[in-house]
Amino acid sequence: MRPFFRKSAFKSVDEQTLQYPVSIDLHSHLLPGIDDGAQTIEESITLIKGLSSLGIKKAITSPHVMHDFYKNTPDIIRKCLSAVRKEISKQNLDFTIEASAEYYLDEGLYEMLMKGEELLSFGDRYLLFELSFMNEPGLLKDFIFQLHLKGFKPVLAHPERYMFFHRRVEKLEELKNAGVFFQLNLNSISGYYSVEARKMAEWLIDQQMVDFVGSDCHAEKHLIALQETLGRSKYMDKLRKLKLLNSSL
Ligand SMILES: [Fe+2]
Repeated sequence: MRPFFRKSAFKSVDEQTLQYPVSIDLHSHLLPGIDDGAQTIEESITLIKGLSSLGIKKAITSPHVMHDFYKNTPDIIRKCLSAVRKEISKQNLDFTIEASAEYYLDEGLYEMLMKGEELLSFGDRYLLFELSFMNEPGLLKDFIFQLHLKGFKPVLAHPERYMFFHRRVEKLEELKNAGVFFQLNLNSISGYYSVEARKMAEWLIDQQMVDFVGSDCHAEKHLIALQETLGRSKYMDKLRKLKLLNSSL
């Protein structure tokens, strides 16, 4: 199997700093062939082995659900999960995998919620959702209100990555005050996505507004970036001191 670590980077930081800050990851795309993450079961296992080598023991993986694009039903996700579990057990890997979903907020999702269709939550009824990167959806406030009404705890995926929040942090404070949990992508800390996302990640950490961290691992490139991110001291150290909810899952 092809190693994902770049040897020079691997040697330059000590082993301790390379460990993921929590042993449970809640945001990744490890199920094969149903979104833009792993495409084959072999790729799923490569990613799982990579996460495992960073200290992750359990992943609650979160395939995309987008009304017009990734039409992943709970049934499709469960079938795929079961295939990956079989392979994990066949290869005798010490790794637990569960599945929820990363729901893209659009009218389709809002309708599913209003109709009471099954949505895959994790832990204590947490529901992971993402937004368009470009425009704040008009539905956002009502969606959060309705999620609470139906007993879900909203978790916004990578709040640091949305451009419309970059110069309007008060919007993030409003969401926090409305009971939204925030899930930071670890790779945002090293500027993997953009300088703006890195600055927002730092601000969220400084404000102690991070509830969960996630790898958002789709492919080996994210594992390599994660390894580099984990070696960055200042904000990783600050992050490790936060009370993260990953361990409650
Ligand atoms: Fe994701």
